[in-house]
Amino acid sequence: MIKVGVLGAKGRMGSLVGQTVRSAGDLELAAEVDIGDERDCLLGCDVIVDFTSPAGVLDNLRWCVGSGLTMVIGTSGFDGPRLAEATKIVAAGATSADRSPGAQPRVLVVPNFSVGAVLMMKFAEQAARFFESAEIIELHHAGKVDAPSGTSARTAAMIAAARAAAGTGPGPDATTTQLEGARGAVVDGVHVHSIRLAGLVAHQEVLLGGHGETLTIRHDSLDRASFMPGVLIAVRGVASLPPGLTVGLEGLLGLA
Ligand SMILES: NC(=O)c1ccc[n+]([C@@H]2O[C@H](COP(=O)([O-])OP(=O)(O)OC[C@H]3O[C@@H](n4cnc5c(N)ncnc54)[C@H](O)[C@@H]3O)[C@@H](O)[C@H]2O)c1
Repeated sequence: MIKVGVLGAKGRMGSLVGQTVRSAGDLELAAEVDIGDERDCLLGCDVIVDFTSPAGVLDNLRWCVGSGLTMVIGTSGFDGPRLAEATKIVAAGATSADRSPGAQPRVLVVPNFSVGAVLMMKFAEQAARFFESAEIIELHHAGKVDAPSGTSARTAAMIAAARAAAGTGPGPDATTTQLEGARGAVVDGVHVHSIRLAGLVAHQEVLLGGHGETLTIRHDSLDRASFMPGVLIAVRGVASLPPGLTVGLEGLLGLA
């Protein structure tokens, strides 16, 4: 039985994780914590799942690694600088007696738990070097507090790395005048456009353009339930990962 603790347990994602864990035969929902609650009930859990907020997640990470707890983090906002900070926190969480990397707790940060979204990112990475232009449109419900989404930032980073490895330069763009924001945010050299619209859940299009052709890779999460199979894979698989910080579900899906 894997004992699971949930941080952000009263939220949209955290409450669904609670239900999902309760209905899995090999998992036990051992602790549920939301803002303002004491975290001590998480001690003794095998895995802590964090779906809180970008503002609070690093404090939770610090507390969990300080307590030697294994974490799966779904909270968004882990761009490059934040991942660097998280890496430092995890490294500092190695037991005081043993400062070697092997003594670090396991922390898995997953920008998107949807298997379809992971595949979308992978396909975008594969396609990126064959096209001159690549831009991203991410579309989410109006209650989302951060933009651009963690998934789009990660997709942009993957596209940028694939293009850099292939020696592909920046995409053509003749824009010389623009209203601020008209061309979106630029993440690792890739333009990312964020839509916030009531009625949406989580959606993303990667648009690639070349010589007389375009390729659009689109993924739609139509229900938060789409994230749960990935959460279960992460909770069951995090103990098999190397110590320290791992980003993305790809390794556990055999896609790394
Ligand atoms: N990785 C993914 O696949 C994925 C999927 C959906 C949402 N998300 C992200 O997960 C996060 C949560 O999303 P949501 O829709 O459930 O939000 P939500 O606002 O419905 O829930 C967040 C919950 O966390 C609680 N909380 C906030 N700070 C806390 C803290 N420091 N400690 C404990 N609890 C705290 C809040 O009170 C709330 O109950 C967001 O960052 C969102 O972008 C990630």
